[in-house]
Amino acid sequence: MDQALEGQLQQILLERRCSEKLEEKGLKPTSSVIFQGPPGVGKSMSASWLARELALPLYVLDLTAVMSSLLGKSGSNLRSVLDFARSHPCVLFLDEIDAIAKRRSDESDVGELKRLVNILLQEIEDWPHKGLLIAATNHPELVDPALWRRFDMDVTFTLPSDDNVRKAITEFLGSDAHEFSHVLDFLVDSQRGESYSNIKRTINKLRKHKHIDPEGFESAVVNYLIPDAEGLSRQERISFAVKLVREFSFPKQRAAKLLGVSRDTIRKKIAEIQS
Ligand SMILES: Nc1ncnc2c1ncn2[C@@H]1O[C@H](COP(=O)(O)OP(=O)(O)O)[C@@H](O)[C@H]1O
Ligand SMILES: [Mg+2]
Repeated sequence: MDQALEGQLQQILLERRCSEKLEEKGLKPTSSVIFQGPPGVGKSMSASWLARELALPLYVLDLTAVMSSLLGKSGSNLRSVLDFARSHPCVLFLDEIDAIAKRRSDESDVGELKRLVNILLQEIEDWPHKGLLIAATNHPELVDPALWRRFDMDVTFTLPSDDNVRKAITEFLGSDAHEFSHVLDFLVDSQRGESYSNIKRTINKLRKHKHIDPEGFESAVVNYLIPDAEGLSRQERISFAVKLVREFSFPKQRAAKLLGVSRDTIRKKIAEIQS
């Protein structure tokens, strides 16, 4: 996880631990937070991590579900969820809050949406300090700014940096890490710009392949990461083989076999580049 981000999450815990000291000075620990960021970067995971660290039960409400159920009843449904969550210390996670907290310029169902936003506006500000209200959105631009301002803290989740892509891959490889060490650079290169959850899916697929078909796994890596390997021209296959050897330290023989070119061709091409 990004350090600044981890710092913010730790801050929430720290304020809880020092809540008495803070309250003596008329200060209150953070009790409402909004998470923003693309899908698959750890918003839900962080909500459950916080609940675990605080030793509080976690309740998750997906607001798209509230909206798709009888719209006319959304207001009272939301009310009863909020009342329940207020009744005892817990973490309430309101996922996809943009589903109801749309800017009021949105014309559809204006009356009902306005009512829902108003309910939330009242609730967020005086959320009990023994509990924690967390909202999350993939679409911060859709969220009513008036609502946004009510949260004590705003936490931004981003796609992993190159460094974190490498760390995540190593972590997801688990006990297989050493067997993938020769393709690690290649994996990191190919997963740049992907979310943690996409990276995890790719790595799990490759690990399963490795255990089911140990012989064929390298070609699976290549095929998976370049799905149209078959459709590459001869020139493209040669350049790709050269790239595997030069940038990812593949043995020439392996690269040759994977891409269906001769070892000699690769050797000549590399000599050409180096001269
Ligand atoms: N920082 C991270 N480190 C390791 N794995 C992560 C991280 N963020 C996300 N993941 C993986 O991606 C999955 C989906 O993350 P999630 O928290 O549901 O994303 P979001 O709620 O942001 O869409 C998690 O279950 C976890 O496997
Ligand atoms: Mg989520």
